[in-house]
Amino acid sequence: MIAQSLIGGIFFKGKPRMSVKFEKLVNGAVGGLALLQVLAENSFDSVLITDDSPEGKIIYANKSFKKLTGHNPSEIIGKTPRILQGPGTDPEVIARLSAAMKSGKKFEGKAINYKKNGTPFIMYWRVLPIKIGKKINAWLAIQREQ
Ligand SMILES: Cc1cc2nc3c(=O)[nH]c(=O)nc-3n(C[C@H](O)[C@H](O)[C@H](O)COP(=O)(O)O)c2cc1C
Repeated sequence: MIAQSLIGGIFFKGKPRMSVKFEKLVNGAVGGLALLQVLAENSFDSVLITDDSPEGKIIYANKSFKKLTGHNPSEIIGKTPRILQGPGTDPEVIARLSAAMKSGKKFEGKAINYKKNGTPFIMYWRVLPIKIGKKINAWLAIQREQ
């Protein structure tokens, strides 16, 4: 049932984008998980997932996050993505992100962020709610340097 609603949310916005064979793969919890794992682990873009707590603690970061920011995923689990911010980060962009999250909506924008060694760069990223039914269980970001 969960997989069903996930499929509905991800794949059926607009027109269906998969074959019956693919639907069978993702419909099974194990197959769906395996697919998402391969996707996230091998994405050229950075993938960052936070929990639904008010602080938004990081629960997953992929290898591309390490490549982009210099932070080792194992070191930043439990911290928040605010570790990427600094004096040059535009507070208006962050306020827009906060407002979107408060109303359960997605965000897309860019702002100055900082790598682990302090080097500034322009982060271009999207933040999306991961919903099970109507409840937001986590937030997922797709990030790249612009
Ligand atoms: C999944 C996710 C990814 C995020 N990634 C970034 C990021 O790459 N860069 C950034 O400046 N803020 C990022 N944030 C925003 C901060 O974690 C935080 O939500 C934001 O600073 C607003 O909270 P604050 O006003 O308490 O600082 C991300 C948030 C979430 C939920």
